[in-house]
Amino acid sequence: MSSKTKMECCVIGTGYVGLVTGACLADLGHSVTCADRDKEKIESLSRGRVLIFEAGLEAIVERNVASRNLGFTSDIRRAIASCEFIFITVDTPPDAEGKADLANVDSVAREIAAAINGYKVIINKSTVPVGSTRRVQRIIEEAMEEYHEFDVVSNPEFLREGTAVSDFLKPARIVIGSDSQKAIMRITGLYRRIDAPLLVTDPVSAEMIKYASNAFLATKVSYINAIANICEAVGADVREVSLGMGYDERIGFEFLKAGPGFGGSCFPKDCRALLAISGDSGYDFNLLEGVLEVNQEQQERVVAKVERALGGLDGKNIGVLGLAFKANTDDIRESPAVNVTRMLLEKGARVTAYDPQAMDNARQALPGAGFAEDPYQAVQGADAMVLLTEWDEFKWLDYGRARELMESPLIVDARNCLDPVVLRKLGFHYEGVGR
Ligand code: UDX
Repeated sequence: MSSKTKMECCVIGTGYVGLVTGACLADLGHSVTCADRDKEKIESLSRGRVLIFEAGLEAIVERNVASRNLGFTSDIRRAIASCEFIFITVDTPPDAEGKADLANVDSVAREIAAAINGYKVIINKSTVPVGSTRRVQRIIEEAMEEYHEFDVVSNPEFLREGTAVSDFLKPARIVIGSDSQKAIMRITGLYRRIDAPLLVTDPVSAEMIKYASNAFLATKVSYINAIANICEAVGADVREVSLGMGYDERIGFEFLKAGPGFGGSCFPKDCRALLAISGDSGYDFNLLEGVLEVNQEQQERVVAKVERALGGLDGKNIGVLGLAFKANTDDIRESPAVNVTRMLLEKGARVTAYDPQAMDNARQALPGAGFAEDPYQAVQGADAMVLLTEWDEFKWLDYGRARELMESPLIVDARNCLDPVVLRKLGFHYEGVGR
């Protein structure tokens, strides 16, 4: 990339979104400094240690550190001073009411005000309530000692864990929310090597797009889970139903897999935040409340299935397969698998769990559970196997061997990823979701 098109970017906050953003911007040929006040984190990243489990991320970080397109620092002000583009990618944890807590965003805004030394495009990628772009603008204006021109832009991210790198480099769309022509031109140049539809809109609409998209996808999941529950009652197979629905392009195949409910760092949090936003605006978003209710019930239904099949849970041995909130991640935030396991424990079951990546994270969250070295050890002597995360590894187990190891032959497959016909032939009692 020529030095004219190579742009200086600073990414503040080296969590999941920040690191993926920084590494991918560097891979697009820009010069990127990732800054974080956590010195230990910066130290370890500088030594090439990526502590996040994300396909392809480590390789991109290594490649761009080697080519000097990517660097790390805990000197946030210096990083701000030396770059034109400042990305805010800090955490906005929910407060007691479910609203996003903006303390981290506000503190970065004050850092920017203290370090600003020329025109800056400040790009907010953190998920923030509508109106926050203008709030950041105001904080900087008020805290800035000497006037410098700047623009604040909302540019929400739509990264999925497990495919975050390709989601960044090949997104379905790029959303830019700004009232400034200058900022829009600059940021369009920054992303010019990404081939995706560009939607330029006002900041409030851009912020709303993020919440509306995530809440809609969560609604799809709760919708199909509700349909699955009816399928169970009437003897239909929800997988056939969602396939039949998906062929209609207006519906599509995606996010119609019934399971134990949605989890992760975004869907539950963003649904609650949108509910808070709508409540504040005077609108009763009953539909979205229903989505969260279905999601809670869906997790309880898994527990009820095991309980019913075993005639109680007290003292029963349960082998749990999967703890991550979905496959291909070590993340257990709001994981339905962890919630279901916790409920099993609360009802007196003895749980031995296995997950290929998430056990280190789960140990703290599930102090009462035992952890196995492999799936077979998890189900040894078990009265039931409960499959909660759709890891490929679980699809190809030797279920004949598992059957021999288990005390009683019950499988509750909360992800519908096993073949009931094969399992029944092996002597299992099989229960899926909505089939
Ligand atoms: C999501 C959004 O997809 C992404 O655009 C946004 O930026 C962050 O939140 P992520 O949390 O990584 O990404 O997970 P995603 O793949 O969307 O799945 C969310 C949850 O829904 C998982 O628990 C998953 O198991 C569940 N899910 C998803 C289903 O139960 N059924 C489906 O059909 C799809």
